[in-house]
Amino acid sequence: MSGRVLLTGGAGYIGSHTCVELVEAGFEVVILDNFSNARRDVIDRLEVLTGAPVICHEADVLDRDALDRVFAAHDFDAVVHFAGKKAVGESVAQPLDYFHTNCTGFSNLLQAMDRAGVRRVVFSSTATVYGKPEVLPYPEDHPLRPESPYAANKLVCENLLRQVKAADDRWSYGILRYFNPAGAHPSALIGEDPNDIPNNLMPYIAKVATGELPCLRVFGDDYDTPDGTGVRDYIHVVDLARGHVQSLKLLIGQDQSHIVNLSTGQGFSVLDMLRAYERACGKELPYEVVGRRAGDLAAFWGDPSRARDLLGFETTRDLDDMCATSWAWVSRRKNS
Ligand code: UD1
Repeated sequence: MSGRVLLTGGAGYIGSHTCVELVEAGFEVVILDNFSNARRDVIDRLEVLTGAPVICHEADVLDRDALDRVFAAHDFDAVVHFAGKKAVGESVAQPLDYFHTNCTGFSNLLQAMDRAGVRRVVFSSTATVYGKPEVLPYPEDHPLRPESPYAANKLVCENLLRQVKAADDRWSYGILRYFNPAGAHPSALIGEDPNDIPNNLMPYIAKVATGELPCLRVFGDDYDTPDGTGVRDYIHVVDLARGHVQSLKLLIGQDQSHIVNLSTGQGFSVLDMLRAYERACGKELPYEVVGRRAGDLAAFWGDPSRARDLLGFETTRDLDDMCATSWAWVSRRKNS
């Protein structure tokens, strides 16, 4: 399938991996990014990986004129919207900033799309829209009870999409609820590159492995889980990126709106992750058990069956692959 796709936030962790998979699948890609949480050399790396020039507009989704200019410059078939803020703790401290970037930014984008007559969009949502699990694995029709401003922003955007489509049936959307992305591209040219001390488990373990951080703090070992530590559904970022390709194919090919989990259907604990990373880097990694992190859930994982049935999406990369590719990426970055 072919088509020209705008990736907002396309230089970021998930956006950059999606760019590679889209180009490999035959799509043309244009990136819009403000580089607030991505490095400029990602674009050069994407050019190496895709073997073609990568068009990138440095712009912000809050800049309506810039959005109009980008839509005037290209004839897009669809947009994939990654651009946004994603740190849950920060969203609690800065709810206005989060609303502005994540919700106003998205509504600006939809308005610019409407003006340009581009009405297919894939939206990066999150499993945290579900809130406390009533059943596991989470099905897509699980009640939605977001517990942080970040999760609430994502739900506002999901609802906006439903309302926009209800008002004008020319729209179609794919809402992708991500579980916990991990790993890096097998080339080790792109990966997760947090500017500060990471909040999330996998990049934190990676920095312990490189020696940039002394020790993993395990947030609680008294949960009702097999080893007492938190359980999550980690999905390889390349699999996650492939999910976007499938979603776009359904939108462009069949105009079929959908809401799907991008998950593996399997949960692993914090200690499972640590052990897997130790296998990948070939050394023991220090950790200490500390108190629970406020707001954390004990365990959750997703039901992948709708993604399989609707998108033909199945994950193919396991925990060892996530850790091996992460380790290759962070070792290379540290030595370069
Ligand atoms: C977090 C976000 C979620 C986001 C997801 C992206 C919260 C409450 N939720 O989810 O919105 O979509 O990241 O990946 O922040 N852990 C440690 N030590 C650490 C870091 C994490 O023990 O230094 C544990 C946590 O307690 C949890 C597991 O590792 O059990 C995973 O944590 P994390 O990577 O932060 O992801 P989530 O909490 O699932």
